[in-house]
Amino acid sequence: MKPGLHTVTDGRGLLFGGDYNPEQWPEHVWEEDAALMRAAGVNLVTVGVFSWGRLEPAPGERDFAWLDRVLDLMHGAGVAVDLATPTASPPPWMGHRWPETLPVDESGTTLWYGARNQWCPSSPVYRARSLEIVTDLVERYADHPAVAMWHVGNEYGQVCHCDLTAANFRRWLTARYRTLDELNTAWGTTFWSQHYSDWAEILPPRTAPYIVNPSQRLDWARFCSDALLDQFKAERDLLRARSDKPVTTNYMGLFKPVDYWSWAPEQDIISNDWYPDLADPRFPARAALTHDLMRSLAGRKPWMLMEQSTGAVNWRPHNLPKPAGQLRLESLQAVARGADGVCYFQWRQSAFGAERFHSAMVPLAGPDTTAHEEVRAHGLELQQLSAVAGTEVRADVALLHDWNSWWAAEERARPSDRLSVVEQLTDYYYPLWQRGVTVDLARASSELLAYQLVIAPSLFVLSDEDAAALTAWVRAGGVLVVGPFSGLADPRGHLHTGRFPAPLREVLGMSGEAWRPVDGDLSCSWRDETGFNTSGFRARDWTETIRAEGAEVIATFDDSHSPAVTRHEFGAGVAWYIATLPDADGLSALTTRFLKDAGVEGVLHSLPPNVEAVRRGDLLFLLNHGDGTVSVPFDGDAVDVLTGTPLHDGAQLAPRGVAILRQHSGA
Ligand code: GLA
Repeated sequence: MKPGLHTVTDGRGLLFGGDYNPEQWPEHVWEEDAALMRAAGVNLVTVGVFSWGRLEPAPGERDFAWLDRVLDLMHGAGVAVDLATPTASPPPWMGHRWPETLPVDESGTTLWYGARNQWCPSSPVYRARSLEIVTDLVERYADHPAVAMWHVGNEYGQVCHCDLTAANFRRWLTARYRTLDELNTAWGTTFWSQHYSDWAEILPPRTAPYIVNPSQRLDWARFCSDALLDQFKAERDLLRARSDKPVTTNYMGLFKPVDYWSWAPEQDIISNDWYPDLADPRFPARAALTHDLMRSLAGRKPWMLMEQSTGAVNWRPHNLPKPAGQLRLESLQAVARGADGVCYFQWRQSAFGAERFHSAMVPLAGPDTTAHEEVRAHGLELQQLSAVAGTEVRADVALLHDWNSWWAAEERARPSDRLSVVEQLTDYYYPLWQRGVTVDLARASSELLAYQLVIAPSLFVLSDEDAAALTAWVRAGGVLVVGPFSGLADPRGHLHTGRFPAPLREVLGMSGEAWRPVDGDLSCSWRDETGFNTSGFRARDWTETIRAEGAEVIATFDDSHSPAVTRHEFGAGVAWYIATLPDADGLSALTTRFLKDAGVEGVLHSLPPNVEAVRRGDLLFLLNHGDGTVSVPFDGDAVDVLTGTPLHDGAQLAPRGVAILRQHSGA
């Protein structure tokens, strides 16, 4: 069987641990670390993410002795190691000796060493030096019994605009377009006299006097994601050539610069870093959405939370600590949504460096702290859940999210910058999350047969083939919901001519002719009598002038009386179009209708506010994100698997409490 997360969880159960940076501490502290890890049920640590300078103190020198001792110590303590390639932060000698390895921003400014990420994905020197250290690392440790998996780099996302990158961009464009004529057509260079007569004239989008060509920028975004992937693959291939252990790199959720759909097939394990902003009232739903994305990237199989924080981070302007119980709640939320590992940044809080004020599993105040006690209790509790590892989460609903469309939709010089792809995604996700409806993320080109309801909150770029596939899917019985500003552009970023959304007109049974951003919000009324228990809703910032062409008008804008929401019965299915940004009540009412059309229900009949419910395998996870105690009713009998308590017809959840139930009957 292919190496994967199961290779690491087999015999270990759910993975629990964190980034471990022993090089910041004298060796006597390592002994204490090992003892504390054991006591806290830690079974996996990520070592070496930022160790390049310790492993190669000067060009070509090697110092692995300390890492030998760390790995032996971890093995002795029964803690497996996720061994990192140290390539996210080259030592200062690299930028000093070879300044061309340093990244350059849009304005031509060099980004110097002294922080991290100071490397250019197109630099041959960086590539060669990074592969040398990776080769030596894997040669030395491939057979070390502590090493259970590999972690390549860290949070890929660095972009560079230098001349080396320009040359690589041209190579990438040549492979895509073959001829300059093709490129000129794709970039629409008859506009503003941008015609290219020689490949050598083509540059990355650099700081320019005015708005840069959006098709050029779209290809640039694609290129940057591919260039980083190329570096990942080069390192991964060296690891794979010598080791049969699975390889990962840690994602950053809905991170715009990197198209994780194109990255996911290249990894053995999908892993993510997640740091919620506790000041955001919707942060629990955003967490759920991000976890669902990771599970979807993993092919609806388990994934791993590589980093989260036990308490406050240090990189927001004002860093809120986590209240008691929050660490456990967030971690179990990830498990509920398919995580087979819940790890932290980092094991021991740094006493120096840029992250001195970041929380950790062992705070600077030591193990005799509430924070560490919570960590230990949680680690031990996870051992009771080892049977959860490998089980799956099923969803009947898919939300479409596509990086190419995201890049293109948010280019400068558009009708309104108040349309945000991620906010629209979150807006549509939220009422589903509130109802305990589990959601996968997918692309328009994905296989959608598993789903009854597919929602595309924002799909600005849509190819004709993908539109045809969506149309066929609805004809065969699917329920499709399309949000505003969708189906407008082809994969080059060129707008379709004719009434919009051209490729979806037939399936939606409507068409539009103008975008009408508005200042503030405006009222909308339902036209359809059934199913809504509000008289109307408010819509903000955005409206479109559309007309029904076979669809039923479900809601209208009160100012113009023109349609705001349409519903079209098409073949055996239904297609909705939403020509605005409805408020939460409006979207909630609409979601009830979408679900009814699709015959989809939440995992429980009703859920109190702030309670999340999700089924994983044969377990029902109930998570209380609120500050008060709540009762969650369900039919029949269940057992709380953590406490062994039998329950009848419902469970009580303390503030930030979690119940994991095995139900015997009922729903
Ligand atoms: C990211 C990085 C870590 C650390 C944390 C701090 O996730 O991968 O190295 O900087 O952020 O929150």
